[in-house]
Amino acid sequence: MEKLSLPKNKIKVLLLENIHKSAAELFKRQGYGNVELVKEALDADELKRRLKDVHIIGIRSRTKLTKDVLASAERLLTIGCFCIGTNQVDLTAAKKLGIPVFNAPYSNTRSVAELVLAEIIMLFRGIPQRSWGAHEGEWDKTVKGAREIRGKVIGIVGYGHIGTQLSVIAEAMGMQVRFYDVVEKLAIGNAAPCRSLDELLAISDVVTLHVPETPETKNMMTAAKFKKMKKGAFFINAARGTTVDIPALAEALKSQHVGGAAIDVFPKEPATVEEKFKSPLQGMRNVILTPHIGGSTEEAQANIGGEVAEKLVKYSDNGSTLGAVNFVEVALPPQSNTTRFMHIHRDEPGVMARISETFSRREINIAGQYLRTDGEIGYVVTDVIGRVKVGMGIRKDLADIPGTVRTRFLYEAPPQK
Ligand code: NAI
Repeated sequence: MEKLSLPKNKIKVLLLENIHKSAAELFKRQGYGNVELVKEALDADELKRRLKDVHIIGIRSRTKLTKDVLASAERLLTIGCFCIGTNQVDLTAAKKLGIPVFNAPYSNTRSVAELVLAEIIMLFRGIPQRSWGAHEGEWDKTVKGAREIRGKVIGIVGYGHIGTQLSVIAEAMGMQVRFYDVVEKLAIGNAAPCRSLDELLAISDVVTLHVPETPETKNMMTAAKFKKMKKGAFFINAARGTTVDIPALAEALKSQHVGGAAIDVFPKEPATVEEKFKSPLQGMRNVILTPHIGGSTEEAQANIGGEVAEKLVKYSDNGSTLGAVNFVEVALPPQSNTTRFMHIHRDEPGVMARISETFSRREINIAGQYLRTDGEIGYVVTDVIGRVKVGMGIRKDLADIPGTVRTRFLYEAPPQK
């Protein structure tokens, strides 16, 4: 495909922190030949030096892209966070510079759902305490407290990506699925909604949280809520640590009102591998504790590599910002025999009129225009038929419009017959 702007082999891609090879493979498949891989995270000085001629950067959680670092990245078009979180990037600074940031929020959905299903089976069979006992020489073969999950009620709190995925696989195992969400959600399969959290707590044999961290979900499970659960029911949290009052859960487990638990996320988690993990739940034999690994699988890493790289390529190739975390989202049709002008500007009155005037003055017919603004930034993509010559000075005129943050343009030739 012919491109009027930077040819793909001139676009420099830098992938840090040992990003999964699926990312580099996707870039190469899409014609990006200049991909550099670095195993480690880089510090601020090294980043400033290396980013001077980089167009696309991929990072994970350890690389800090501060305002200061971003200011020196003159050619940077876009940033990919090959992880879920994006707070390692100054998103506001990036937005002001016209740099969309992408991540992969749902690549590990299946991994979390699978772990939770496995934990449900383990808890219903009393495996944590039996495994613990066997390690210590016990031989507890009693059937007491060992049950199948078939026919039991699973109460899913938060029926989003993970909640619905879990709904499908739990139902396939013969469970009865009930869910509670603050938003009205389409029930999948034979699942049925509950009108309130209390209703769900009262009927579920196992309760599992899949809500985001918000002021409303902070400590949503308190001592009073645990009391509302069925006696002996199990509790699982692989969502966010702040959603559960952990001392209250410990009390509910000690009193045997809650029959067992599996907890993957904690209000305070160690920041490094050296830091010791401490929790009031340690030492309880009917509790599975895992170090926030619900979404950590090889498959999820591979998915993240492909998913983020694809978003970066789509932005670089055709300007689509769908899925950007700090930027207005514009979904664009693929171009063919059009010149596409991308214009990022401060959201001020008059900019659009000046853009249109730049085209009409040259008697250029606009075939399509896609605009989104958010009060701070405006992003408009304009397609005009055929190939427009750079020599016409359009690029400079667009760049000179007051309020302009950056402009780019692409030409996509019609497919070869
Ligand atoms: P999602 O955004 O797709 O779904 C969340 C659902 O919770 C939405 O349907 C929303 O309407 C609902 N919700 C929000 N507030 C609620 C409330 N107060 N009561 C009931 N429902 C409420 O999110 P997704 O991808 O399903 O993730 C769920 C949680 O899992 C998030 O907290 C995420 O951080 C966590 N997570 C944990 C991982 C791990 O390694 N343990 C890995 C991936 C995600």
